[in-house]
Amino acid sequence: MDVFKAIETRRSIRKYKDQPIPEDLLWRILEAARLAPSASNRQPWAMVVVRDKEQKKLTAKACSNMEHVAGCAVFIACFSNPGDKWYQVDAAIAMENVSLAAWEAGIGSCWIGYFDDDYMKSVLHIPQDDKIVVCMTLGYPDEAPDARPRKDLADLVYREKYVPRSGSPPF
Ligand SMILES: Cc1cc2nc3c(=O)[nH]c(=O)nc-3n(C[C@H](O)[C@H](O)[C@H](O)COP(=O)(O)O)c2cc1C
Repeated sequence: MDVFKAIETRRSIRKYKDQPIPEDLLWRILEAARLAPSASNRQPWAMVVVRDKEQKKLTAKACSNMEHVAGCAVFIACFSNPGDKWYQVDAAIAMENVSLAAWEAGIGSCWIGYFDDDYMKSVLHIPQDDKIVVCMTLGYPDEAPDARPRKDLADLVYREKYVPRSGSPPF
């Protein structure tokens, strides 16, 4: 699968088979994060990768018991230090690489931005000064959702300069 095909066909997957992700495949997917670009190549993020059932129960609790968090094969929390200007951007690029590399390997993912920050940090022993930027579930898909709608490209792109269109705000 080429990169564009992965981008085009990826969906958020919220229902997973009860099937573990082989260790070597998981490491290949995480390698895609390691290779991500970052501002001044600082690579300011780290990840906690959760596969243990009991630990997953606690991460699900931190996400209001979202079913796909409880039912995923792997839960990832990507954290970084807010002292780094680009900490969120760099973490997000790494996680998008994870999502696309997983999809290419037949593994679904879902970004998780809704969680109790303090509780998740305590479950995962994340240092106080750091912030969990975003989390992600991974697992073999047990659903095939339709594509969610996207805005038209023509509504998102301006040629050369931004020009207001019929009085509406740009976003
Ligand atoms: C930063 C971010 C946070 C998200 N948080 C959640 C979440 O907490 N729970 C969830 O089920 N989906 C979450 N999503 C998934 C979005 O709802 C989903 O990407 C969007 O509806 C588009 O659907 P698609 O991914 O299938 O194209 C999040 C996505 C992003 C990028």
